Amino acid sequence: MTNDKSVSKFAISRRGLLAASAAGATGLALGFPSPALSQGAPLKVGLMLPSSGTFAKLGQFIDNGFSLYVEQKGGMLGGRPVEFIRLDDESKPETATDNMNRLVGRDKVDFVVGTVHSGVAMAMVKVARDTGVPLIIPNAGADEATGPLCAPNIFRTSFSNWQVSEPMGKVMHYVGHRNVVSITWRYAAGIQMAKGFAEGFTKAGGTVVEELTLPFPEVEFQAMITRIAQLKPDAVFAFFAGGGAVKFVTDYAAAGLQGKIPLYGTGFLTDGTLPAQGAAAEGIRTTLHYADDLNNPANVAFLEAFKKKTGQVGDIYAVQGFDAAALLDVGLTATKGDSAARDAMFAVMGSAKLDSPRGPLAFSAAHNPIQDIYLREVRQGKNTLVSVASKGVADPARGCKMT
Ligand code: BEZ
Repeated sequence: MTNDKSVSKFAISRRGLLAASAAGATGLALGFPSPALSQGAPLKVGLMLPSSGTFAKLGQFIDNGFSLYVEQKGGMLGGRPVEFIRLDDESKPETATDNMNRLVGRDKVDFVVGTVHSGVAMAMVKVARDTGVPLIIPNAGADEATGPLCAPNIFRTSFSNWQVSEPMGKVMHYVGHRNVVSITWRYAAGIQMAKGFAEGFTKAGGTVVEELTLPFPEVEFQAMITRIAQLKPDAVFAFFAGGGAVKFVTDYAAAGLQGKIPLYGTGFLTDGTLPAQGAAAEGIRTTLHYADDLNNPANVAFLEAFKKKTGQVGDIYAVQGFDAAALLDVGLTATKGDSAARDAMFAVMGSAKLDSPRGPLAFSAAHNPIQDIYLREVRQGKNTLVSVASKGVADPARGCKMT
């Protein structure tokens, strides 16, 4: 993809253009470019992602997606060279506040991009609210980030936990299931996805007969799989991701439940995991804002470029990282690279329309994506598109008061 083609990927709304010209008026046109700009200083981007633990591969794909976009722009965002400061958050909420403070206070980053784990993201959101540092969340679905803790400087290019799970409740009722067991890790993302699923399913008339949970990131699933076999539900809804998803899906099949008690979930159960899950994943149906075979020009170009860069097949995590860089680029381009012109930058980012590999991507007033949620099925090792489960889904942003 050439630079010119990338630029034309974005249509900026009238609100965004007005904000951009306001930025010019307040900073650049008055002849007072920020010191960083006048010195051509690099833009410091803190990438706070897991590079160890069960979500390590997810972090690596987000990083690669983000880096791919920057490379396509000649190593720049908004015309400024980018310097990365990388930090392994290990998906540990207990060290997240210190890690975030280190990036903001010691390393003085202009932006933070992170992370995967909802509990870690919650700590990052609190620091972002306290310090005003712009934060782009390229995965973690914690509903609060674009709900009660929403803020002008916090954006998400991924999803909310409610957004990807509630449509699956409706789908499972629609296909005829009435009694379902849910199973997940007992932490923010698992709890919120099980709740979102239950909301969609029970509103449609279904019953969640048991909610099984185990601590994150435990993978001793045997006792719970035995319990599922005893309960004999119509189907199972699951949220696991990364290494945990590989183990759960292979254990489920090894216990003889594959095909007998149909397995459903949010797409993290099978995204970025299929090579390791092999035949055990065949037939699993999931909902997500991406499918491997989305046949739009942006996805075709993205998958080709990602393969060329990494030798690997792109997935939702890589897409979310790519789009995080794209969103920053839109904001910074509007302010001619001036990261200090925050109000103008945030206004443009909030009204950006991205031609994402996932399909058209816009942002709600709470800064969460408005996007199609796809129903996918694993067929021959691919998360194959079945249908659009829910079109243009916006998170309800319960409790968000943008000040
Ligand atoms: C989360 O913690 O929000 C999360 C982690 C992995 C995949 C999806 C969501």
